[in-house]
Amino acid sequence: ADSYDEECDYLFKAVLIGDSAVGKSNLLSRFATDEFRLDSKPTIGVEFAYRNVKIGDKIIKAQIWDTAGQERFRAITSSYYRGALGALLVYDISRRTTFRNVKKWMHELREFGNLDMVVVLVGNKSDLGDQRREVSEEEGRNLAEMEGLFFMETSALENVNVEEAFLRMITKIH
Ligand code: GTP
Ligand code: MG
Repeated sequence: ADSYDEECDYLFKAVLIGDSAVGKSNLLSRFATDEFRLDSKPTIGVEFAYRNVKIGDKIIKAQIWDTAGQERFRAITSSYYRGALGALLVYDISRRTTFRNVKKWMHELREFGNLDMVVVLVGNKSDLGDQRREVSEEEGRNLAEMEGLFFMETSALENVNVEEAFLRMITKIH
């Protein structure tokens, strides 16, 4: 573990990345405080949230960083990734461009992130799956397999698999 904290056994930093409006901030607010906003604004700069997670007999304090998907709103990339042990790389299953850009985010991860970072590829907005799906679950899973990532489809709106996606990352870290 990186550091020690009074109320917890370990402190882990993880980051959210992916195109704008894929739902990074809502995944985080769902995980941290069980909140969701239909009218959320694009993130500017960097925000973060904490949540304690019990794994076995250890309490892990997960510090999750969230930044803008839009280039012009992003802060310095190297400091964003510094010390991060995990990442959720998010795309939107209803917008293919966000899936195409996963490659771009992988490049950035490899340039700035730790080599042994645990990365979960997340296809968010699964609630739109019946009406507006542009990326099949199989495509997501195949890409994850090729890139050596974990994979999960989520819905921040309906609170499906959100906890599972974060927990998968956190439990694989140590
Ligand atoms: P940036 O901060 O610009 O990078 O965007 P973001 O990735 O943080 O997206 P954000 O969480 O702000 O969500 C963008 C829009 O998608 C908002 O209108 C959300 O309400 C909506 N949204 C987020 N998650 C879901 C989801 O699971 N399903 C649906 N239907 N909409 C979602
Ligand atoms: Mg955001």
